Amino acid sequence: MTYSIKKAAAAIIASSALLLAACGGGEEEAGTGSGSEDKKVLNVGTEATFAPFEFMDKGEVSGFDVDLLNAAAEEAGYEVDIQNTGWDAMLAGLQSGQLDIGMSGITITEERKETYDFSAPYFESVTMIAYKEGAEIASADDLKGKKVGVQNGTTGQFAAESIIGQNDSSISKYETAALMFQALQSGDVEAVVTDIAVAVEYAKSNPDAGVETITDEQFVPEFYGIAFPKGSEYKAEFDEALNALYENGTYAEIYEKWFEEEPDMEALKQ
Ligand code: ARG
Repeated sequence: MTYSIKKAAAAIIASSALLLAACGGGEEEAGTGSGSEDKKVLNVGTEATFAPFEFMDKGEVSGFDVDLLNAAAEEAGYEVDIQNTGWDAMLAGLQSGQLDIGMSGITITEERKETYDFSAPYFESVTMIAYKEGAEIASADDLKGKKVGVQNGTTGQFAAESIIGQNDSSISKYETAALMFQALQSGDVEAVVTDIAVAVEYAKSNPDAGVETITDEQFVPEFYGIAFPKGSEYKAEFDEALNALYENGTYAEIYEKWFEEEPDMEALKQ
């Protein structure tokens, strides 16, 4: 009797000690306390006009990519400093090694793989056309002969060029996704070619813009990856971290927060 009470008491003491330790640890990580000081800070570049993946919210970069990268960094034992560098500067920063990571809805392509390393895929996307109502676009081929906007250096540009042709003056290239959408809004272009979730988000958050969206069978699925300088020591660690987030449900949680549906985990395992 006495013995078991003692044992129970000991168990209670032990578990509250554990609880205290857990709380203490949590506080240190969240604050600027000693716990975070030894974590290496990785420099991250992005182009933050690409909602819901990355966009500026009250002076901070926010979005699905931000939540996912923060979770992966936490898992891998790093801190990340995410700066809205812009697209071209991000790519240049990765090439020069000034940036450790590019997190910007970046599609993994064979060509880019020659210049950068990529994590395992973390999001499946496909090209989408957004156009002003009445522009008579029923398929990708209808882009021919239209004024088309793209974000410079993106897969949207490559898709538009594969239909219309390279260096065709009917394609206007914009430095950011926001400028591309502005051109659609103002009527400078009749259609833009971008990524599905971004086009859908734009149409949803600008209900009065009169924007319609279509995709086309000739656009094949693409996958986003976290980009690193070639030969980066961090790639393997972030792959491992992503995998942990896939397995422990954190990825699904973040996905549901931003897309209000469950992710197709099978699509990422390819
Ligand atoms: N997924 C496309 C690409 O990799 C577009 C990415 C644009 N990202 C952005 N944050 N503006 O080319």
